[in-house]
Amino acid sequence: MYKLIDGKKISAQIKDECREKAARLNEQGIKITLAVIQVGNDPASSVYVSNKKKGCEYIGIQSLSYELPEDTSEEELLALVRKLNEDKNVNGILVQLPLPGHICEDKVIRTIDSHKDVDGFHPESVGALCIGQLGFVSCTPAGIIQLLRRSGIDIAGKECVVLGRSNIVGKPMALLLLRENATVTVAHSQTKNLKEVTRRADILIVAVGKSQMITKDYVKEGAVVIDVGIHRNAANQLSGDVNFEDVAPVCSAITPVPGGVGPMTIAMLMHNCVESASRS
Ligand code: GUN
Repeated sequence: MYKLIDGKKISAQIKDECREKAARLNEQGIKITLAVIQVGNDPASSVYVSNKKKGCEYIGIQSLSYELPEDTSEEELLALVRKLNEDKNVNGILVQLPLPGHICEDKVIRTIDSHKDVDGFHPESVGALCIGQLGFVSCTPAGIIQLLRRSGIDIAGKECVVLGRSNIVGKPMALLLLRENATVTVAHSQTKNLKEVTRRADILIVAVGKSQMITKDYVKEGAVVIDVGIHRNAANQLSGDVNFEDVAPVCSAITPVPGGVGPMTIAMLMHNCVESASRS
């Protein structure tokens, strides 16, 4: 029988811990402020941004909301980021991605002060993670480490396979697992004999962006499977990158979609905001 890894419960624990830390900082006169910038009104981004603001409210973090029109110029956005960099009352700056095509995401991310980079996307944050120094870690992979730890799953010495190599999930995930002393393989769309590779995994992290691609023939008996994907079909049902019904019976533990990795991203964003305030 597999264990269901409960992201809702674990994210609630983390948020409550953040709330306590925020209250202690408040008692010392330290207020926490997150600036959230959205350009345009992509519906999925609006949902994420709204959930982030609700998270802030629960923790006791002030959120400053900047909803900019789709035709905002790159220079206008960069000027806002620079202004927020200078603002001593702002601890975190989050620019919701994707940005409209005429704005260079890389340039915007680089402009954010790395001390306020609560998304962990700045090259300095990624570099710090790579060489084991203090910096902000991308929220989804950091949340996955918490899911594993708080479910009593040992990482050290395990064969971990990360399927996907994005800058936001796959690459930082691999670095974090390495920091936890796992043996790490990163597989991707060009990997040969993919099933052979994924079947080596004691812990398989799937971030491919294809609904229900992973069936039980990709998974070793007794493996832990973490599903980062989230997709909505025409009937409005949610699914992950893993075919849950097929895979769950061969796993020792698995995350559901929804209610697995998803809620962890916001919890870790809150963690990074509180951390930013206590560091400053
Ligand atoms: N778009 C999708 N996920 C994220 C995220 O974690 N942070 C930001 N800024 N944009 C996103």
